[in-house]
Amino acid sequence: MTDTNDLTLRLPAHILESRPYQPGKPIDALAREIGVDPDAIVKLASNENPLGMSEAARAALAQAAHGAARYPDNDCHALVQALSRKLDVPANWLVLGNGSECVLGLAATAFLEPGRHALYAQYSFQAFINAVQRTGAQHKVVAAREHGCDLDAMLGAIDSDTSLVYIANPGNPTGSFVPGAALERFIARVPRDVPVLLDEAYYEYLPDADHYDSLAWVRRFPNLIVTRTFSKAYGLAGLRVGYGIAQAPLAALLNRIRPAFVVTEQAERAAVAALDDEAFLARSRMANERGLAQWYAGLDALGLPYLRSRGNFVLAQVGDAAAINTRLLRQGVIVRPVGVYGLPQWLRISVGTEEENVRCLAALKSAMEP
Ligand SMILES: Cc1ncc(COP(=O)(O)O)c(C=O)c1O
Repeated sequence: MTDTNDLTLRLPAHILESRPYQPGKPIDALAREIGVDPDAIVKLASNENPLGMSEAARAALAQAAHGAARYPDNDCHALVQALSRKLDVPANWLVLGNGSECVLGLAATAFLEPGRHALYAQYSFQAFINAVQRTGAQHKVVAAREHGCDLDAMLGAIDSDTSLVYIANPGNPTGSFVPGAALERFIARVPRDVPVLLDEAYYEYLPDADHYDSLAWVRRFPNLIVTRTFSKAYGLAGLRVGYGIAQAPLAALLNRIRPAFVVTEQAERAAVAALDDEAFLARSRMANERGLAQWYAGLDALGLPYLRSRGNFVLAQVGDAAAINTRLLRQGVIVRPVGVYGLPQWLRISVGTEEENVRCLAALKSAMEP
C-alpha cells in the first residue's frame, strides 16, 4: 500500500487511521506470482459459491449485456418488485446495494458520528469495522463467547452513546450461529431508538432446523434492518447485489443517502432470474452440507481443531497460520488467514467443489509437515 504519511493535506484523524478491507487474494495475482496457469489455482478464500451461478442467471446476464451503454434504472424497479413478491414485504421496505456490504455502510453513514459508537461482537465481519472507521465513530467490541456473540454481554454494553448494533448470523469468519429464539429476545430488548443491523449473508445456507423468520421481526421492530446478498448461495458475488429490509421510514432514510446507480442492469437482471431458481438454491445448499462434512472429516483426519460452521466456510486451527498460508500459496491454493480478526492461529477456508476440497486438504497436509 502506498504510504499516506507523505500527504500534506489536512485530513481527519479517523481517515488517516483507517485501514482498507483485505479481500482474498485474486486467482490471477497468485498465478502471476508463482508462474502457473490461473486454471491451476484453487481459491477457497472469499466464500464464493463453488457451483458458480444458475443457468437462468447466466442467460439473463448475457441477454442484458447490450444494455451496458446506458445507465441502469436507479430505482431497480424489476428487482425491487421481484424481492417484494418473494419476501412478501412492501416495495418501499427494500434498500438495494452494491453488495450487502454497501447497505452495511449506509447504516454506518446514517447513524454514526464522532462521539457515538457502533457495538458489535469480537470476531465480527471486517466490513463492519471498516464502515465504522469511515464515520469517525468509536467501536465498542464485546468479547465473544465460544467464538460467537455473547448476546447478554452485548445488551449490557448498550448505553446512551450506542448508535448502531451490528450482528451477523451466521457470523464470518467463525461460522457461529445464534438460534432464532435467542436472537429475537435480544432484538426485542434493544431500546427502540438504537438501530440493529442483522446481517444474514449466509441465511440461505441454514439447514431447515435452524431457520427463523427475521422478516416477522422487521414487521415488529421499527429499528431493525436485515441484510441479505446474492453473493453467496446465489453465486453472483462478482455482480455485487445485496439488499436490506426495514420498515418504510428506515428504508427511506437509507435510500436517501444511497449512491446513484448502485446496481447495474446486468446485475439486476441476473439477480431477478436467480431469485426464482429455487432448484439451484437447493443444490447449492446440499452441496454446501456435503462440502462441510468433507471438510470436517478431512480436518479430523489431519488432527486439526476447527469450528463447526453454519456458513459456506470452515475455520481451522493450524498453528502458525501465516506460515502455513505461505506454503499453501506456493502450492497454488488460496485460503484466508484471519490474523486481522485476532485469530493468528486460524485459517478460514471456503467450501469448494469436492475436487477443490480434496486438493486443498492435500495441500494443507503437506503444508503442515515439518
Ligand atoms: C457476514 C458477511 N456479511 C456481508 C458480506 C458481504 O457480502 P456482499 O457485499 O458480497 O453482499 C459478507 C461477505 O463475505 C459476509 O461474510
